[in-house]
Amino acid sequence: MEKPKVVLGVSGGIAAYKACELLRRLTESGHDVRVVPTEASLHFVGAATWSALSGNPVSTEVWDSVHEVPHVRIGQHADLVVVAPATADMLAKAAHGLADDLLTNTLLTARCPVLFAPAMHTEMWEHPATQENVATLRRRGAVVLEPAVGRLTGVDTGKGRFPDPVEIFETCRHVLRRSSLARGVAAPDLTGRHVVISAGGTREPLDPVRYLGNRSSGKQGYALARTALARGARVTLIEANTGLPDPAGADIVRVGTAVQLREAVLKAAADADAVVMAAAVADFRPETYATGKIKKKDGEEPAPVALVRNPDILAEVAGGGTGERLRPGQVVVGFAAETDDVLANGRKKLLRKGCDLLVVNEVGEHKTFGSEENEAVVLAADGAQTPVPYGPKEALADVVWDLIAPRLG
Ligand code: C5P
Repeated sequence: MEKPKVVLGVSGGIAAYKACELLRRLTESGHDVRVVPTEASLHFVGAATWSALSGNPVSTEVWDSVHEVPHVRIGQHADLVVVAPATADMLAKAAHGLADDLLTNTLLTARCPVLFAPAMHTEMWEHPATQENVATLRRRGAVVLEPAVGRLTGVDTGKGRFPDPVEIFETCRHVLRRSSLARGVAAPDLTGRHVVISAGGTREPLDPVRYLGNRSSGKQGYALARTALARGARVTLIEANTGLPDPAGADIVRVGTAVQLREAVLKAAADADAVVMAAAVADFRPETYATGKIKKKDGEEPAPVALVRNPDILAEVAGGGTGERLRPGQVVVGFAAETDDVLANGRKKLLRKGCDLLVVNEVGEHKTFGSEENEAVVLAADGAQTPVPYGPKEALADVVWDLIAPRLG
């Protein structure tokens, strides 16, 4: 089989050095990568580095090997173009269709998915000119990742940081996988949508060192976030105790307990098109919290732990019981981990919670939790039932988005 052809466009920002790691990941996982740097980016990383790491020739201008018509051929033959880092200048040129070097020509001739990973100072990112250019590119079908928040060049911190290259690589993989499944370019069907995803498992503290928790790893929720980002969505990922690396482009909210998760979900869901509750939320929490470590006492039995109910966040958002959605028109999806009578219990749960879709899977000590694979049935409120065979969690995530997309108003 021919290797997928990826064009890595590099524009002139300090994050260019981090794109070397992205390039390495791409080549080592069997992609044929052609690096097309801008002239300005060579101040940060030289052409020799790109050529050695990619095993392909590197040029910035349209005047090299003119007989091969590189300004057209490179874009035409690509399966994916990823511009990382994308500077404010590059986003402006791409939005306006300028073609004054090899990379901008490539962007005009590419008929494959195009992904931008912007990196710049916060002021430049937030400037209305940049924001309008980003909106234009997204409207035309490009996936433009939101920059991460953190340390920038110099002493500044804020939004504008280049996301983890390993995570940009993951997004590239998702975009390529979707277009190869579609046997053509799969449109980023979640562009302009805000989706909220909860992931992980809550921890309900007993004292400063102990908690009641569960086995959820958060991997399914992260797969949902990564696939939604690759499909163009704005993603708020509310994570509870996962310790997993942040997906490139997501807004991350970190929580510990069910009560904190509820607060974060209600806040983020206020303007969301879809809410997917993949987190395992503790149904109960200890009634009291001991501010000091609970001690064992010689000759005494331990005191019983009294529990109280946690709020049911999914039911609250979906309107289970009341029949009233917090936000009418919002698509609400729940997960149900069952150990027996999986489908019958799933149907009852779907009704009780009031959600549109319920992803039901069978769990056990060594089944699903923490693994890279999953097998499930997605139940819909209209009675439909979609079985998803055993496979990567990202495949299940894509089926969930396939079912959500047509339900969005
Ligand atoms: O009732 P059960 O815990 O099986 O339901 C699982 C679904 O409900 C998951 O989507 C989970 O995120 C959500 N849930 C919730 N609040 C709770 C318990 C579960 O939102 N207190």
